[in-house]
Amino acid sequence: MNDNQHQCSFCRRIITVRDQYDMPIYDPKTGFAICRSCVEDIYHFLEDHEDAKEVEVKRDFADRLDEILAKNKPHIIKQYLDEYIIDQDRAKKILSVAVYNHYKRMKYGYDHTDGSEIEKSNVIMLGPSGCGKTALLSHLSQLMDVPFAVTDASSLTEAGFVGADVEVAVRNLYYAADKNIEKAEHGIIYLDEFDKIARKSGANNSITADPGHEGVQQALLKMLEGSVVEFTARGQRKHPEAPTIKVDTKNILFIVGGAFVGIEETIAKRLKKDASAIGFGAAVESTKKGDDPKRFDELLEQVRPEDLMQYGIIPEVIGRLPIICTLGTLDEDALLRILTEPKNAPVKQYQKLLSMDNAELTFEEDALRAVAQKAIERKTGARSLKGIIEDTMLDIMFDIPKSGEKRRIIITKECIEDGTAPRVEPVS
Ligand SMILES: Nc1ncnc2c1ncn2[C@@H]1O[C@H](COP(=O)(O)OP(=O)(O)O)[C@@H](O)[C@H]1O
Ligand SMILES: [Mg+2]
Repeated sequence: MNDNQHQCSFCRRIITVRDQYDMPIYDPKTGFAICRSCVEDIYHFLEDHEDAKEVEVKRDFADRLDEILAKNKPHIIKQYLDEYIIDQDRAKKILSVAVYNHYKRMKYGYDHTDGSEIEKSNVIMLGPSGCGKTALLSHLSQLMDVPFAVTDASSLTEAGFVGADVEVAVRNLYYAADKNIEKAEHGIIYLDEFDKIARKSGANNSITADPGHEGVQQALLKMLEGSVVEFTARGQRKHPEAPTIKVDTKNILFIVGGAFVGIEETIAKRLKKDASAIGFGAAVESTKKGDDPKRFDELLEQVRPEDLMQYGIIPEVIGRLPIICTLGTLDEDALLRILTEPKNAPVKQYQKLLSMDNAELTFEEDALRAVAQKAIERKTGARSLKGIIEDTMLDIMFDIPKSGEKRRIIITKECIEDGTAPRVEPVS
């Protein structure tokens, strides 16, 4: 054996080593070595083993589907959503059905024999800020046995621009699926703030007027259509040799949502044009303009794909979002109910917290109404409700724990409107 010959400690063959690849493992101190062919054997062993595991996961998932389908029928999904989300009945129905069909489609994919195909029914949600779009989906996700990930579309950029590439949406899902590719491939992706990637120039102008947003939409289109998305693990810098993870989006359900501020005017214009074409121009003209939530809701409900196109979503993307789901503006009564009714209602939460300090919290009806009215003024739907009571509650939460006495705290309208201190009464 000359200097550049080593013996493989496994197969005992003597190998002439020209470079590291001939003897991938070699320790000069001990002379321990493994030749390339032995390393390859080990590699293949591991690979086969991993494949076998994957098949197991697949079967597991297919078996679980029956159970998931039985447990998550549309009316059951809606019932669950009702515990947390006030109003928005139609949106709840649409989503329940879309998700249920998503499961059915998966099951069908596992055991279909005829040549037919069930189309994926991606959803686009439109509704004013703070009306419950994100909340609806986050509760839906808690109920689900499929992975679910929310990605802010406005943070996405076309490859090559500063920011996150669209692949991030799939990567988030992969992590939501505990890095199980098979599970991720049957999950749900919610793209929030989807209106923010509309072409600023609307439907008319050329691509060059708005290259970034158009590019993001094009990139998303591939995912929506179903493609193998490749991405690097979190924290890994993107470079040509970095190992990548591949996820096929063919069975992933996409739900996109946004406020689409101003789209009602586009809808109104179209309706007016349609109406004047059949001689009803005057009737539509007479609907009130401006800041009327009723008018806004009525118009939004009539949204059609061409309005979205006019707004700046490219037609190909719209074509991949066949289900349109609109949410309404929350009125005073709805806001009032949001304060008290859902399982996680703000008032319930404060009551629970204070009860741990022996205090019994009540909001007078007038006070709750005042909170709702303030929220309406702020025009951010239910989003500002918590902030409005937080101001009042801070002092209480600070003072009450000072003593363990039994007390009753009463929040009045004045507390909300003028910042008056709440009434605190001893309980005998
Ligand atoms: N219809 C609703 N029922 C109950 N809570 C709601 C409703 N709409 C909004 N909320 C509450 O208001 C906050 C903001 O709602 P969110 O879902 O983020 O609004 P957006 O429609 O802008 O996504 C959340 O904390 C959510 O719990
Ligand atoms: Mg939102």
